[in-house]
Amino acid sequence: MPMNYHLSNRKGFASDNWSGVSPEVMEALQQVNISHHPAYGENDPLMQQAEEAFQTLFETNCKVFFVYNGTGANVLAVNHLLHSWQAVVAPHSAHLNEDEGGAPEKFTGGKILTVDCHDGKIKPDQIKPFLNSIGFQHHVQPKLISISQATEMGTLYSLDEIRELASFAHENNMYLHMDGARIANAAVALDCSFSEMVTQTGVDVLSFGGTKNGLMFGEAVVFLRPELADGFEYNRKQGMQLASKQRFITAQFLTYLTNDLWKHNALQANAMAGVLAEKLSSIEGIQLSRPVEANGVFAILPKAIIAELQKEYFFHVWNESLSEVRLMCSFDTTIEDVDGIAAAANRILEEKKIRLG
Ligand SMILES: Cc1ncc(COP(=O)(O)O)c(C=O)c1O
Repeated sequence: MPMNYHLSNRKGFASDNWSGVSPEVMEALQQVNISHHPAYGENDPLMQQAEEAFQTLFETNCKVFFVYNGTGANVLAVNHLLHSWQAVVAPHSAHLNEDEGGAPEKFTGGKILTVDCHDGKIKPDQIKPFLNSIGFQHHVQPKLISISQATEMGTLYSLDEIRELASFAHENNMYLHMDGARIANAAVALDCSFSEMVTQTGVDVLSFGGTKNGLMFGEAVVFLRPELADGFEYNRKQGMQLASKQRFITAQFLTYLTNDLWKHNALQANAMAGVLAEKLSSIEGIQLSRPVEANGVFAILPKAIIAELQKEYFFHVWNESLSEVRLMCSFDTTIEDVDGIAAAANRILEEKKIRLG
């Protein structure tokens, strides 16, 4: 008997991982669900094919390791590159700092040095003060800079800004890590290739996201300088992120990377964010609070309508005191969804006005 799972048929704007899976990805999962296949990616021709797909897109001989989730990718990348007496410098708003439940601290034993960045982007001048600690045995030693592309604030680093941070890191004997949970959204928004954004700017290690753009699960840690990957397989195992039936991650990435699915999905999410921003900003009483550069829209809504609107289209309140909300668009967000939430916001506002006289 078929199960009734009681899922809502209305899409929300809570996050780009509230969406389902691209049909092409589901098909890939079905296609590899036959017979037996090497576990753990060992001696697995699919894994080799997937690594080659990354190498083609990044135009370099990068080393690729699949993991289950974005937190795992970030934590393992940091853990691999740092001793416990070294530190990662990141914006305060970084997922690594705010949303990973202390996992980076637990696994690395190290410290995250944070900087307040209103737009989610860290600048070299904000990192300079930490350099005073270098060589002073009483202080943690800054060794890694971590940036998110796109940022948690929906903004983007330009290629020049990434290049500048990479040069700054290397001049100071540090590495640059990029949290690319939304890297596809960033690349299509900047109209550039992964090679231009990552390889050619000098990023050392990348957490390459898939789940927020149509995959069921799975992310990749990509070492742009292969020598930095030495021993990472052991760290991944110790970090409990080695997938036993890895073919189900590999197949998703193969279809995602080789058919421009990443581009197609990200273009849709970003386009819908653009339309949503336009529609919301035309409603009296609603203001955009941040530039819309990828697939996230941040807006100030009258407090009185938020709870009502959330009953129809779920989304998160970003900053309670400012009445700021975050609306994320996904690869499967449609114009009907965007029209729907804008119309609902308008209608609830009108009803409130009438009620409040
Ligand atoms: C910027 C960023 N990095 C990483 C992640 C990955 O998180 P998860 O461990 O939930 O896959 C997320 C998800 O919210 C994110 O927004």
